[in-house]
Amino acid sequence: MIDPFGRRVTYLRVSVTDRCNFRCSYCMAEEMTFLPRHELLSLEELDRLCGVFIDLGVRRLRITGGEPLVRRDLMTLFRSLHRQIEAGRLDEVTLTTNGALLARHAAELAACGVRRVNVSLDSLDPDRFRALTRLGSLDDVLVGIAAARRAGIRVRVNAVALRGVNDDEIDRLVAWAGGEGHDVAFIEAMPLGETGPARAEHWMSLAEVRQRLEGRWTLRESEYRTAGPARYVDVLETGSRIGFITPFSHNFCEACNRVRVTCTGTLYLCLGQDAAADLRTPLRSGGGNAVVREAILAAVQRKPRGHDFDAARLADGPRIVRFMNVTGG
Ligand code: GTP
Ligand code: 5AD
Ligand code: SF4
Repeated sequence: MIDPFGRRVTYLRVSVTDRCNFRCSYCMAEEMTFLPRHELLSLEELDRLCGVFIDLGVRRLRITGGEPLVRRDLMTLFRSLHRQIEAGRLDEVTLTTNGALLARHAAELAACGVRRVNVSLDSLDPDRFRALTRLGSLDDVLVGIAAARRAGIRVRVNAVALRGVNDDEIDRLVAWAGGEGHDVAFIEAMPLGETGPARAEHWMSLAEVRQRLEGRWTLRESEYRTAGPARYVDVLETGSRIGFITPFSHNFCEACNRVRVTCTGTLYLCLGQDAAADLRTPLRSGGGNAVVREAILAAVQRKPRGHDFDAARLADGPRIVRFMNVTGG
């Protein structure tokens, strides 16, 4: 799969549910309507879809949500993907999670070949954590992260940088993650979904975050890369890494290697654009995988060059009306 800009698509993000047991304020509105369950692809259909993408050259898969671990029987999908890893058809299967249910699943994830997970963690203060996620318990997440580590899974903590919300905890997050042996990635909030005026009010550039970090830590550019847009530095004092995910500086679309499918089988070709294709109809057409394959190949030819998020226009409302939990980022 090579798009019109010569980029090879080798990374698929699969959102297995739009539901979540949290309501993070930068991601969701307080009142959300979730998809009726009959709209969802079954886990067998999702697995079949992953298989077609793998046939077409996808080497890395990331399972996302909503919160993926709230999807019932999700481990059957991981078990099937594990067989693809063992057959040498996939390099990596990973997970992005809020961590609340991670303790329950960490051992089985590890047994299914999951070597690293990204866990959202925006604050280490229990009250603040609850306020930010509206429903979350910090303790559950910390227990989940510890269980992942015990199971031998590398953890990267994801923190969206928000002025006046958690910007006073940036050093604390780096110190804590470093002490626990985890990497941490800071993320600039992106304008997806109508979450209210707070997005513009709290938005913060990672250039500023980095400048502040440099006052406290010795940072060295790192050659380390993951499959996504983060650029990493080594923190000499802790031996861990900090990743920076900076969509607003437009520094990663050029090398974009990924597409995402939602739990209803919609293929989104860019996180920051509306370009999409329905894969559920071909999947259910009775025409076998060949029809799905053709639909994917045709869609990849419509992959946009990149997003056009603009920090100066955040107050105008979302650039993209769908919420982040539709695609899982
Ligand atoms: P790895 O690099 O494989 O560890 O994962 P990742 O950083 O791609 O995945 P994760 O789910 O942890 O996402 C972290 C942040 O990066 C989220 O805010 C995502 O929305 C964002 N992100 C991931 N891919 C893209 C992309 O293609 N474009 C944009 N703008 N943001 C992305
Ligand atoms: N902008 C940036 N990151 C976001 N996430 C959720 N919503 C947004 C947003 N609007 C992050 C979560 C999670 C990852 C999948 O995306 O914190 O770590
Ligand atoms: Fe749920 Fe993740 Fe969105 Fe938070 S960021 S509400 S944990 S989907």
